[in-house]
Amino acid sequence: MPQTTPYVTESNLTDLAIERWSNISDPRLRQVMMAMIKHLHGFVRDVEPTPQEWFTAIDWLTRTGKMCDDKRQEFILASDVFGVSMLVDAITNRLPTGATPSTVEGPFHIPGSDTFETGANMASGAPGIACFVTGMVRDLDGKPIGGAMLDLWQTDGEGLYEAQRGKDKYMRGIYYSKPDGSYIVRTVAPIGYTIPMDGPVGDLMSKTKISHFRPAHIHFAVSAAGYKPVVTHLFQRGDQYIETDVVFGVKEPLIVDFKKKASGKAPNGETLSEPFYEVTYDFVLQKAAKAQRAA
Ligand SMILES: [Fe+2]
Repeated sequence: MPQTTPYVTESNLTDLAIERWSNISDPRLRQVMMAMIKHLHGFVRDVEPTPQEWFTAIDWLTRTGKMCDDKRQEFILASDVFGVSMLVDAITNRLPTGATPSTVEGPFHIPGSDTFETGANMASGAPGIACFVTGMVRDLDGKPIGGAMLDLWQTDGEGLYEAQRGKDKYMRGIYYSKPDGSYIVRTVAPIGYTIPMDGPVGDLMSKTKISHFRPAHIHFAVSAAGYKPVVTHLFQRGDQYIETDVVFGVKEPLIVDFKKKASGKAPNGETLSEPFYEVTYDFVLQKAAKAQRAA
């Protein structure tokens, strides 16, 4: 007699599971779950884990979940170091050549920073070498964009963010471009830093030869009415970790020169008694309507 329900075998189990998980009325969830079963089964067929190894994987995921709370998100960190966060970002932001590329926001952005006048210092009292970031905000045709908001956040000169210092309103600020599109930020130069290594992601990284450092960078979220906003970083050219960024965030157009200047007159008109850095970068935004058509 023919079987109405086939016996489960190594060869038919994947098809059976995909068929069962096709029984979902929401089309997007059905697509996601069928692909998840297909790739998860493919992974197991490729690796052929022992039951003990499979339990090790489950234990790692369990510990990763237990490491998550409102201040620490170990799953996002895992997504970052596996390159998945940047892949999702790349798929979400397919920008035309010439527009400022996006990168991941990361876990350290805090909304509601203070607004600073052009050239004012957002790093007052922070350790580090003074650093001026200047340039334009413009569109793809070179037209200046006045009134664009530049929301910045970064480490101080010792590699620590506000959350790690336990301070408030530290190493972050909002600037606006002037009517001619120009902007001047005064801050201190960031330095490279390690991802948190005291959790299951760190445990895994320590079994590899993979660098767990990010190169020095300043985070920017740039937005203006009528334009597609961009969340990105500027990276310091020559940083020792630039080619091995642990979260795969570096894109060539975002690597900028931190030019060392002798003490003297700075771009904001101040006279500095110590040497400082000068960084020049033009943010190029895509018109919002174009972005919507491409989506
Ligand atoms: Fe960062």
